[in-house]
Amino acid sequence: MKVSETLLHPTRVVWSVRQLRSLTRQVGSTFGHEFAEIARYDPRSRWWTRLALTEGVELWLLSWLPGQATPPHDHGGAAGSFTVVRGALTERYRYPDSGEHRGLRRAGETVAFGAGRAHVVANTSVEPALSVHAYSPPLVPTREYPSLAEIPARRVALPARRGSVVVEVP
Ligand SMILES: [Fe+2]
Repeated sequence: MKVSETLLHPTRVVWSVRQLRSLTRQVGSTFGHEFAEIARYDPRSRWWTRLALTEGVELWLLSWLPGQATPPHDHGGAAGSFTVVRGALTERYRYPDSGEHRGLRRAGETVAFGAGRAHVVANTSVEPALSVHAYSPPLVPTREYPSLAEIPARRVALPARRGSVVVEVP
């Protein structure tokens, strides 16, 4: 499958949260059938593949078997969005100045967020799940924490890992 330049805006270097939301929503609704064909489900660990990378954004497809989950993490200073394509995902999240929240994200639903959000995403259902994720700026490593409660109020944005990566629009 090929995500078109119309959706990826290859000349856009900085994506807003609203633009990221629109991207994963559109890609999720446009490529649902293709995703069903290329997705893999691995009982040993979560599976993912990168769908696209530009100067401004990266796009990923992730699969989740029941019980699979991320560790508590933030996105190193990147903003992000994800759209559930199949099944449902439970998200526990918080910002430095707020308590913990929890939401069930069903197929067709999108969650977009700025750099301050940290979360745990899990498939707590009994069916496999599939989701498409976008981050801007791209190639910024995630940062893991022992728990959501231990995320510090002040966090420094991490640099992008651009050293050995060829930036391309697939
Ligand atoms: Fe995340």
